[in-house]
Amino acid sequence: MNPDQIAQEAAAAFAATNDPDALEQIKARYLGRSGQITELLKKLAGLSPEEKKSAGAAINRAKTAIEAALNARREELRRQALETKLADESLDVTLPGRGETRSGLHPVTRTLERIEALFRSIGFEVADGPEIEADFQNFTALNMPEDHPARSMHDTFFLLDENGQVAGDVLLRTHTSPIQVRYMQAHVAKYAHLPTMPEIRVIAPGRVYRVDSDATHSPMFHQVEGLWIGEDVSFADLKGVAADFLRRFFESDDLQVRFRPSFFPFTEPSAEIDVAFMSGALKGRWLEIAGCGMVHPNVLRHVGIDPEKYLGFAFGMGPDRLTMLRYGVNDLRLFFDGDLRFLRQFV
Ligand code: PHE
Repeated sequence: MNPDQIAQEAAAAFAATNDPDALEQIKARYLGRSGQITELLKKLAGLSPEEKKSAGAAINRAKTAIEAALNARREELRRQALETKLADESLDVTLPGRGETRSGLHPVTRTLERIEALFRSIGFEVADGPEIEADFQNFTALNMPEDHPARSMHDTFFLLDENGQVAGDVLLRTHTSPIQVRYMQAHVAKYAHLPTMPEIRVIAPGRVYRVDSDATHSPMFHQVEGLWIGEDVSFADLKGVAADFLRRFFESDDLQVRFRPSFFPFTEPSAEIDVAFMSGALKGRWLEIAGCGMVHPNVLRHVGIDPEKYLGFAFGMGPDRLTMLRYGVNDLRLFFDGDLRFLRQFV
């Protein structure tokens, strides 16, 4: 075959493929180490100087033509690929939307945010604490020494250590009260240089854990702890804060608040706070909302606060219960099942 024929054949072969990889392989058939053009060049060695000159020129012309055809085809394939890509990725902004889902906050989160906003408005801070808690903060500092029967009021999840043994000193916190212990400890340390420490006014929302599960109990639930410590804080302040909070939370003056004597190891005297609505589906039924009381002197001593100088109140309320009441939900488990049909109703 003469060089011109080879060049024509190569150009036809390049034009016949649409695949860039195949194109490079076809190129090898002509310009590769044993390609047809290369073979012709090798044969030049055996020719006379005259023949070499004319044959060499013809071969070089063919080679240049093949390279030009190759480059042109390469460029064409690149452009085609780009066009396909652009066409694929084009966005038709005139298409109707696929329907967007609105997201929203979990009903209990809404309640927590509401509670935080209401307490911030009367000068409370919001504090946080670990869910894996130390025995000291969860029990001992709260006037529940080891082996004290009051501990059995909390069905506790203990944790296993790396040997599979129950680690006696850590547990899933059974209430948010350990946060008040931690907060008081930090507060005392922070103001140790002052003759009189500033008042403590704090709430602490969070998850708590107990071995308990039915329509009104879940092994994980929420609490909001409240604490007000100062030189002159009374049970009357507790009643005022609690009643005012409940009226604002439910956006209604049409409810009654009752303090029913109770027992907690960390408060004395202690009470349950009950609420009854004067109208609506729950009219006239007393519902338990929170535990509360004046902080026990032993608790103050455990965190280094002088109970002769300071006193105050604490409460622990159930925001899950508050959410059920506010939205008329009758099964606590609905909050934690993650069923979108339920949750969407709050969006
Ligand atoms: N921590 C108590 C509980 O979980 C509630 C409580 C908090 C009671 C603070 C009194 C004062 O049962």
